Amino acid sequence: MKILSVVGARPQFVKLSPIAAALSAAGHEHVIVHTGQHYDAALSDVFFADLGIPRPDVNLHVGSGSHAEQTGAMMPGLERAMLEARPDWVLVYGDTNSTIAGTLAAVKIHQPVAHLEAGLRSFNRTMPEEHNRVMTDHAADLLLAPTEVAVAHLTREGLADRTVLVGDVMTDVLFRTRDRNLADGVVAPLPDGVATGDYLVATIHRAENTDDPARLAAIVTALAGLPRPVLLLVHPRLRASAAQAGVELASGAIRVLDPTPYPALVALVAGSAGVVTDSGGLQKEAFLLRVPCTTLRRETEWVETVELGWNVLDGELTDVAGHAMRPTPPATDAAPYGQGDAATRAVEALAGALR
Ligand code: UD1
Repeated sequence: MKILSVVGARPQFVKLSPIAAALSAAGHEHVIVHTGQHYDAALSDVFFADLGIPRPDVNLHVGSGSHAEQTGAMMPGLERAMLEARPDWVLVYGDTNSTIAGTLAAVKIHQPVAHLEAGLRSFNRTMPEEHNRVMTDHAADLLLAPTEVAVAHLTREGLADRTVLVGDVMTDVLFRTRDRNLADGVVAPLPDGVATGDYLVATIHRAENTDDPARLAAIVTALAGLPRPVLLLVHPRLRASAAQAGVELASGAIRVLDPTPYPALVALVAGSAGVVTDSGGLQKEAFLLRVPCTTLRRETEWVETVELGWNVLDGELTDVAGHAMRPTPPATDAAPYGQGDAATRAVEALAGALR
């Protein structure tokens, strides 16, 4: 079997890692196309190096731009790469502009498409990601769903016959990285004066939180006022928006850090007292490492983390301090994201659907 993966943004490199390993272990051919949506080394190259992902066969270097510019710029190069490779499947990941560009380029040339992380919904139609994932699910031929909830969404939308529940591939990488960190003695890169177990990890990068100056200022004020050090891992989008809005990030409890490589991120979260974020991946990583999470959004795609008590949504910023300082919830052995074997199951589903 020959697979062509389309990736472009940081979380897609994380998801690609276990898929590339599972394809290689099963002896399948794999072509990796990087759109170039993320190009800073800290958002791209370090993930390939740290997570043992083969170098992309093609990099389209599209870079940043408006949604239309970026998505449109990707499509001709993706189409060329697909026509050249003629894979059995084009595999697209998650919900970014690279996902929808890969899907649109593929279906127009009758290239079968599989969507990894299918069926997630926020039901918030102001999020670009919601449109990317809904349109991708309806165009794709095989929907690889991470959770029962995702399967239920796809079923309601009439897509059950294309859906396979495989589990969450980010869980595969997280467990592997946690175990490797322990074996290799990787420790969290803590700034001076910050002690293990006594800090919060924060990330903010969603357009809905960064692009409105008043909202951004309110979030930064809430983080700055927390009674524990807040290690804020600053995505370039946040850095640019804060500079433009005249919002000082390094204030109060906030310690500004650059985006970290994945093993360091896992070590930071594992050693923290809690996470405050708007990232989907981090909500889940906090849950899997059993660290309480506060999500600065009004809704989440990963509803299991909320239902199990490990994640609280505070999109209105009503009590960020109260939520972030709450005690650890009761222990649970629930595993809504699978056992860490989702990539193997995804590869089996891809091969099975060809037969
Ligand atoms: C994208 C995804 C989002 C995902 C996130 C992960 C879309 C619509 N959004 O958001 O779903 O959660 O990636 O990080 O696809 N920039 C740099 N260097 C880079 C990349 C971006 O400086 O390597 C800056 C540029 O100012 C750019 C801005 O970040 O305009 C936004 O980048 P973009 O790729 O458009 O979206 P993200 O916010 O990263």
